[in-house]
Amino acid sequence: MSPTELDHLVPMDFKNVVQVPDTHTWLINNSCSSEESVPLIDLEDPQAVEKIKMACENWGVFQVTNHGIPMELLAQIEHQARRFFDLTREEKLLTLRSPDSPNGYGIIPISRTFNTLMWMEGFTLSGSPLELARRVWPKDYSPFCTVIEDYQEQMMGVAVKITSLIFKSLGLSREDVEWFDPKSTEAFFHLNSYPRCPDPTRALGMVPHTDSSLITLLYQSSTNRGLQVYGPNLKWVDVEPISNAIVVNVSDLLQIYSNDQFKSVVHRAIVSEANHRISVVYFFGPKIDVNILSPPKLIKDGDSPMYRPVSWKEYREIKGVHFDKALEVLRFNSVVVENANAVTRGNEAPLDGVDGGKVEALEA
Ligand code: OGA
Ligand code: NI
Repeated sequence: MSPTELDHLVPMDFKNVVQVPDTHTWLINNSCSSEESVPLIDLEDPQAVEKIKMACENWGVFQVTNHGIPMELLAQIEHQARRFFDLTREEKLLTLRSPDSPNGYGIIPISRTFNTLMWMEGFTLSGSPLELARRVWPKDYSPFCTVIEDYQEQMMGVAVKITSLIFKSLGLSREDVEWFDPKSTEAFFHLNSYPRCPDPTRALGMVPHTDSSLITLLYQSSTNRGLQVYGPNLKWVDVEPISNAIVVNVSDLLQIYSNDQFKSVVHRAIVSEANHRISVVYFFGPKIDVNILSPPKLIKDGDSPMYRPVSWKEYREIKGVHFDKALEVLRFNSVVVENANAVTRGNEAPLDGVDGGKVEALEA
């Protein structure tokens, strides 16, 4: 592997960094609006379905409480994540992810699209953490594994529940969504670490993007902000950390399935000088080879669906090549060439310094 390839796999050693190196310097617009806030929905609220519909149409994101995940488990997963990221660089590298594997420590896959690196390190899993945990804690792997497995199991239950409420909010019955089998779903699990940064105005934790899944459930440490969404007012809005709440993103496959009624939310992570932030992300969807196509109920008479059928597996590949143009590629009558080569971008963060019109093009 060449040194540049390696740089794009192995995060920098963030400990003791006193200034943001050129490799990590972004041109970003740090302004953020506090006029509006992301909807907060109590899942036990009798109006939950209507509120979810409004949130998915207007924001593409909401926070939920009363989701049933014990607070203790949220605290434990954060503790285990910190325990992992606090290991030495050499220890973490024992679990280094290879370029094509979904499992292990390293820079997250979307980084490959950019020349500039992000101020973060990640640990990704599809399935069990056992084999990787054993490499760093040969005798003491069990607390890490137990907590992650418990979290994955409980999140799956919550994700199925929220997905069902979302289908209901679209006016769809169980028969309409036969492709979605609650007993056979898929998830990718990420632990994200955003170390303290000497100059947060020049660094970016995660570039603006939408997620490829159906929905994404994110738990963020309650000590400090970091996650921002591109709100209906076309401004960045902080997703306030609320202890015990989980953030739910509408992701690309749901935008596709809902025939654009629900919008996949553009979001990013900023970093802080004061705090080392942790987030735990659960990307959820059907089994990866199930084809998704808008149901007739969501299509106006005489129209055809906006997007051609696609599976999560195929969509991930398209996203890997086209990044923020992936949805456009899937549109019927798309003008984007489907097999274009991957583009590598510079250090200008997507959406920053662009006008509203261009933003809509990105989201469409
Ligand atoms: C992601 C993501 C934001 C965060 O992992 O896709 O958007 O706050 N993360 O970690
Ligand atoms: Ni995301």
